[in-house]
Amino acid sequence: MLKKLSIAALAALSFSAGGAMAAGGAGHVEDIAFSFEGPFGKFDQNQLQRGLQVYTEACSACHGMKFVPLRTLADEGGPHLPEDQVRAYAAQFPINDEASNMHLYDAENDEFRALKETDFFPANNSQGAPDLSLMAKARAGFHGPQGTGINQLLKGMGGPEYIYSVLTGYTGEEKVEAGTTFYENTAFPGGWISMAPPLYGEDVEFADGHSNSLHHEAEDVSAFLMWTAEPKMMARQRAGLTGVLFLSLLSVLLYLTNKKLWAPIKGKKLNL
Ligand code: HEC
Repeated sequence: MLKKLSIAALAALSFSAGGAMAAGGAGHVEDIAFSFEGPFGKFDQNQLQRGLQVYTEACSACHGMKFVPLRTLADEGGPHLPEDQVRAYAAQFPINDEASNMHLYDAENDEFRALKETDFFPANNSQGAPDLSLMAKARAGFHGPQGTGINQLLKGMGGPEYIYSVLTGYTGEEKVEAGTTFYENTAFPGGWISMAPPLYGEDVEFADGHSNSLHHEAEDVSAFLMWTAEPKMMARQRAGLTGVLFLSLLSVLLYLTNKKLWAPIKGKKLNL
């Protein structure tokens, strides 16, 4: 708990100092008990694989993830896909936004070469959709009360919760302004987002037979986006916990040493 608190406290401090650094929070954000929360939290490998599938089938047509290396899909602690599946996954990616993927242009054959496992996920900024690599860390779901950041101390920053809440927060209302359609959303700051609802439930078929209701799909893809934003979270938490334990032990030893050093002097009547 200590570790999470101290990190959340730091984050909360920098947040209240920086004011409204990131968007989000103006709307309603639900708290979810993700498997990776807390000092002993772990990414759930099956959930990450399902989230990858949701991302691929329901988000990647508009959103890119240009900071995420494809080979990390094989990492332990991540989706942990077998190498040959990563290779096949990379190769099937269509390049939707050629302007953002010029590094894949093969001038000799005048075409865009297929992705390899040594590449990054394709960038895709068509239609004004932001890159999702770091989205779970770029947004804070929880704020306040009154700029104190206490909610972040208790519940965490709420990046994945914010994404979940955007995906499940559509009311069904639409309006057209200056030729753009906006959709009413209870989590998006301002209440109107230009992203059409990407998930309705039963959008993908999970191989592991897991429920594909809207809420489960949204939870899985949010967990996956937390992993892309912070793939080494488990290692960081372990290192932090080890540090806290080590420092506690050191404090005890130093206290006892101090006692022992002063023992001959303290408690004695000195004839000064
Ligand atoms: C049809 C294209 C399209 C699809 C498909 C799509 N998005 Fe978006 N998304 C957008 C656009 C456009 C925006 C910018 C919205 C805005 O700023 O009003 C956006 C914004 C977002 C944001 C940022 C909200 C913010 O706080 O700025 C998140 C998170 C997001 N999308 C997640 C997803 C996820 C997860 C999926 C897949 C389940 C998905 N999107 C599918 C077009 C799309």
